[in-house]
Amino acid sequence: MTAGLASVLAGARILPVLTVPSVANAGPLADALTAGGARCAEVTLRSPDAEHVMKTMAAHGGLAVGAGTVLTPDQAERAVAAGARFVVSPGYDAGVVARCRELGVPVVPGVATATELMCALRAGLDTVKLFPAEPLGGTGMLKALAAPFPQARFLPTGGIGPAHLSGYLSHPAVLAVGGSWMATTGHLERGDYDGIRRLTAEALERSRG
Ligand code: 3PG
Repeated sequence: MTAGLASVLAGARILPVLTVPSVANAGPLADALTAGGARCAEVTLRSPDAEHVMKTMAAHGGLAVGAGTVLTPDQAERAVAAGARFVVSPGYDAGVVARCRELGVPVVPGVATATELMCALRAGLDTVKLFPAEPLGGTGMLKALAAPFPQARFLPTGGIGPAHLSGYLSHPAVLAVGGSWMATTGHLERGDYDGIRRLTAEALERSRG
């Protein structure tokens, strides 16, 4: 039986979502995130170097690294081969879910409606990514969607920033909150690792408050 995302996150409630332009960013980025207190990160498959980045960040040792923007079963397989310990998708794809099952890795599909959530639950999953959380209606949407499904846990992501954190994290169905604000492509292109460390530390601080 595949352990769920909760066991990989091991209590971490903030998931930095990273789109990393170059593998050269991977080491300093992992250092900055861990210095800020992060214990997990999602590397999206939106940049050509994503697999190398994942490998490098997974080898760093301080972070549970997962893959994001996984759209096909083959991408899931390559991501796991590159060291991904969990797989996140913007939507629900039965093939991605099935391949992750075979690979024994937790998979977190995106849902934006009750129907999609029911697909995920029927497939035996217990955690979904509420995406894109803010445009969907933020915590109001989360509360309304979570109410009929007490067995579901959520990873709200999409448009979230520091000001929204406490609202999401105080909902009992929220496992963790994901977002790119702590380490944007702009930070990485500028080499602003100190900014990444600072924003990560602030987010972690807020998540504890
Ligand atoms: C994702 O891939 O999960 C989202 O693009 C992250 O959303 P954000 O950039 O709005 O935080």
